[in-house]
Amino acid sequence: MKVQIYKDYASLSLFVAEEIIRLLKEKPATVICFASGDSPKLTCELLIKKAKEENLDTSKFFFIGLDEWVGLAPGTAGSCYNDFKKRIFEPLDLSPMQYHLFNGLSDSLENECAAMDKIIHEKGGIDLMIVGIGMNGHIGFNEPGTAFNNLSHVINLDEITKSVGQKYFNKPVKLSKGITIGFGHLLNAKKVFLMASGLRKAEVVKKTVEGSVTENFPASIMRTHVNGFILIDEDAGSLLEKGKTS
Ligand code: F6R
Repeated sequence: MKVQIYKDYASLSLFVAEEIIRLLKEKPATVICFASGDSPKLTCELLIKKAKEENLDTSKFFFIGLDEWVGLAPGTAGSCYNDFKKRIFEPLDLSPMQYHLFNGLSDSLENECAAMDKIIHEKGGIDLMIVGIGMNGHIGFNEPGTAFNNLSHVINLDEITKSVGQKYFNKPVKLSKGITIGFGHLLNAKKVFLMASGLRKAEVVKKTVEGSVTENFPASIMRTHVNGFILIDEDAGSLLEKGKTS
């Protein structure tokens, strides 16, 4: 695992957007798994801007959604699906054959998990995973205590996730379960970028980088990934001990 610190959220986001563009040029059929949420928001905007400026061919690119709130229809404002539709699918005019996400309203969440695992396998694995970190150290909806070898699964959301998650919705929403890609897939991904910015993430970033590797603090799994990068701005890195950042 490597830690890279950027001046601010804008320069961090620019780095990630440029990496995605570079990857898409190198391998047009790149498989990217994206978290929703605030952390990758500007990255998506910059990616779209650059892809358009450079007239990039995105017709072979395959997109995987990291997670979804169980019980929310894909079109619900605040759902991960809806975020990606607005951030990526519509602006890049992706065909529905180019993306796969969990349906949080499915009658069989078990089938949703099996379908996700199958797609990842059929696509030859994930080339790049772009994830955020929750205030409890979660990645995706891999909450504290989740096994490091899990594939896709359904999980009871942590109290912190349920309350912090309200920020994505314009009115209070009852959140109880999530469906998520598990760490088995993260460990197999060729590269993982964990993005964090702002002072409120400083404590969880410190635990990720300097704490022990434990299922009780999910993001610590990044320490075990040979191609894992903790990409943060100066505020998020403000509690790190100097000299321990790579
Ligand atoms: C969202 C997701 C979550 C978020 C995390 C950080 O799809 O997977 O794990 O990445 O909660 O959220 P933000 O980026 O909004 O601070």
